Amino acid sequence: MTRLIRGTSECIQATPEAIRRASDLLRQGRLVGFPTETVYGLGADAENPAAVRAMFAAKGRPADHPVIVHLADASLLGAWAAEVPQQARALAAAFWPGPLTVILRRNRRASDLVTGGLDTVGLRVPGHPVAQALLRTFGGAIAAPSANRFGRVSPTQARHVIEELDGLVDLVLDGGMCQVGLESTIVDLSGSQPAVLRPGGITSEQIAAVLSQSIGGSTATTPRFSGSLSSHYAPRARVELVDEESLVPRAAQLAAEGRRVAILAPQPLAVPPGVVLLPLPAEDEEMARTLYATLRQADALACDVVLARLPAARGLGTAIADRLRKAAGPRDPA
Ligand code: TXA
Ligand code: MG
Repeated sequence: MTRLIRGTSECIQATPEAIRRASDLLRQGRLVGFPTETVYGLGADAENPAAVRAMFAAKGRPADHPVIVHLADASLLGAWAAEVPQQARALAAAFWPGPLTVILRRNRRASDLVTGGLDTVGLRVPGHPVAQALLRTFGGAIAAPSANRFGRVSPTQARHVIEELDGLVDLVLDGGMCQVGLESTIVDLSGSQPAVLRPGGITSEQIAAVLSQSIGGSTATTPRFSGSLSSHYAPRARVELVDEESLVPRAAQLAAEGRRVAILAPQPLAVPPGVVLLPLPAEDEEMARTLYATLRQADALACDVVLARLPAARGLGTAIADRLRKAAGPRDPA
C-alpha cells in the first residue's frame, strides 16, 4: 500500500479497508479527500453542520457559496429535493452515475450551510468506483466541493489534494488520476427553462438531446456561484490567452522582459530560449484530463506567465475554454 504522510494529512491507496476508514471518519464529522471521475472532492457528512463548516474553513471558502451533495444513486434525489421533475429523472437515467450535477429546489434536509442560503440544492451521483464505494459504505450523502483552496485549480490526482490541503484534511483516498479532469456540468432545473451554469464533461448538446429542448446558458451574475467568479480555477502564474500564431512572439516578448514563461501547446513548437513548453494533448478529452495537472506544473516550475490558446468551443472544448478563461480572469488584487 502506498502511503504518504506529510504535514498531518494521510494519503493512502483506496483499498476496501481504506474506504471503511474514510467512511468511519465521515461519520465522526471529519474530512476526507476522495476521487471522482471529474476531480477530487473534499468530503464531509452533508447532514453534519460542524463537518460542513470545517470543510468550508479548510477550503477558505466564503460561507455563501453552495456545495454539491453527492448521492449513491438517483433514487435518493427525493430525499434532498422538494420535488423531482421529470427532466431530472431523464438526465439521471441518461448520465448518472457520471459528471453531471442537477440543481433542484431543496427540501429541509438540505441545510443553509450546504446551499449557501439558496432555496435550491446541487445534487450529483458520481461514477468513480471509489466515490461509489465510499457513498455506499458511508450510507449517507457527502457534501463535497473540489479539494482545493478556494479559487485555485481543482485536483485531478491524490497528491494535488495534499499539495492544497495538507494538514487540513484527515485522510485522502488515492484512486489514481481522474478520468474527466474538469468539474461536472451543472444544469439548473429549478427555473422555467433548463440552463447550464457550468459546462463540463456532459455537453449542452447531450443534455438538449435528452430533454428534447434547447438549453440556456448561465445568466448568473452573482458571485454566489463560485464557478461564475471572473477569476477561478487559477494557478499562481498569470494565464494569458492568445491566438495560435501569437504564442511564440508573445513568449519571446515576455521572456525579454525577464518573465519566466510557459507555453501550453498541443503541437511541438520551436520555443524561444528560456521559455518552457508544456505539451497539451490536441484531442479534447485528453486535454481536459491533463489541463489542471499541466497548470500545476507551470507553478511547480515557478513560471510567471502561462500562454495558452483556446480550443474550439464545441463539445468538451466549451468546458476547456471556460476553465482557461476563468484561469485568465482578472485577479483579486488582495
Ligand atoms: O465535479 C464536480 O462537480 C466536483 C466533484 C468533487 O463532484 N465538485 C465541485 O464542487 O466542483 P465545487 O464546490 O468546487 O463547485 C460546485 C459549483 C460551485 O460553483 C457552486 O457555486 C455550484 O456548484 N453550486 C452548488 N450548489 C448550487 C446551487 N444550489 N445553485 C447554483 N450553483 C450551485
Ligand atoms: Mg471548485
